[in-house]
Amino acid sequence: MDKIIVKGGNKLQGRIPIAGAKNACLTLMPAALLTAEPLTLTNAPRLSDIRTMTELLESLGCEVARLQDGQVLAMGCKQITNHTAEYDIVRKMRASILVLGPMLARDGHATVSLPGGCAIGARPVDLHLKALEAMGAEIELRDGYVHAKVDGRLKGAEFEFPVVSVGATENALMAATLAEGTTVLKNAAREPEIVDLADCLIAMGAKIEGAETGTITIHGVEKLHGATHRVVTDRIELGTYMLAPVMTGGSVELIGGRRDLVGAFADKLEEAGVEVEETEDGLRVTRNGAGLKPLHVVTEPYPGFPTDLQAQMMAMLMLADGESVLEEKIFENRFMHAPELQRMGANIVVRGGTAHVHGGTPLKGAKVMATDLRASVSLILAGLAAEGETSVSRVYHLDRGYENVVEKLSACGADIKRVDE
Ligand code: EPZ
Repeated sequence: MDKIIVKGGNKLQGRIPIAGAKNACLTLMPAALLTAEPLTLTNAPRLSDIRTMTELLESLGCEVARLQDGQVLAMGCKQITNHTAEYDIVRKMRASILVLGPMLARDGHATVSLPGGCAIGARPVDLHLKALEAMGAEIELRDGYVHAKVDGRLKGAEFEFPVVSVGATENALMAATLAEGTTVLKNAAREPEIVDLADCLIAMGAKIEGAETGTITIHGVEKLHGATHRVVTDRIELGTYMLAPVMTGGSVELIGGRRDLVGAFADKLEEAGVEVEETEDGLRVTRNGAGLKPLHVVTEPYPGFPTDLQAQMMAMLMLADGESVLEEKIFENRFMHAPELQRMGANIVVRGGTAHVHGGTPLKGAKVMATDLRASVSLILAGLAAEGETSVSRVYHLDRGYENVVEKLSACGADIKRVDE
């Protein structure tokens, strides 16, 4: 397995291009199952999760052509030839559950393995199932699989999510596009990835209102047609690289960055004393020597502070002058990066869902281990600021969500390389 070696201390200057959003692409791809016509995605990120979703869709009878070095995905599902998403694929990537709604809507039946838990939490899918049942699906859990079916078409329904769920909103939204009648999804997720999915479905002929509001109204249609859709910029990759110059000092322009994608996160950076400015090509983040103020951060559904940037923010708060508080409200076990950061000299006390970060202790490079996708990149950010060499192992986690990390950071002056372990 590969590892990444970072030697800290270099100031960063330069530009980093931001790719298309992994979490948008992972819901846009299953939308290809909703129609017999071709769906083409541009600005797709080159990530292992995208390859896993490609493998899953092909196992269901969908053709996926990777063009322009994987940045264009030309998909076509004339007919779903297999309605079962096997455990071996689903356990590798939880987003596989997102083929459930589209298959049910298109053909009236689907069998999808339960995803199982993951490092950051139990990750149940009960809300996905409840929303589909509200639309008339009969759901049975048997032998570790979800068996779903409906006689004829799904029926439009009104459904209120007890908690905001990105994936459950996406499954229900896709299913509702082909339901008979109108569906209203209340307390729905409002993430930019939801809006991007709605935009794509509308381009395919769906009738959807309010995707950015938390109450989504979908008027079902008989059929959807093909479309070409550009995947929205990845706000989590954007936020991650906004922190790189903050860790080292310097100034970096994030190409394709948009303030509205990272509003709450950028507000917190400015509260800490970091300069964030909009440029013609994106966002520029600058930190020249000034100290960082400690923060109180609470993760929330969009438009609140994103849980997927919590680990990265913890790395920054290790440099702040004083005690910061990070409250993780979305997942039950998302502080696994803390013990790894402590190996680098960080002073972090975790009590349940709250981490107290006592900033200002000197950071020393160390051997650390990536535990999940976003934790792995927080270790690299810490390595940029630490004295000496940091070696991050199990970087396969990183490959799931970040393309060309070494190239993007070294282009701005970081001393970083990838080696065979
Ligand atoms: C999506 O996961 C993202 N993944 C996650 O990103 C992200 O952290 C999460 O949304 C929150 O923003 C993709 O889009 C592929 P949820 P998802 O359903 O949809 C509970 C990354 O690093 N819940 O919004 O699985 C759940 O346990 C990944 O890119 C239920 O109880 O998240 C959690 O506490 C990590 N029942 C909360 O809701 C359900 O049926 C939010 O989960 C579904 C969720």
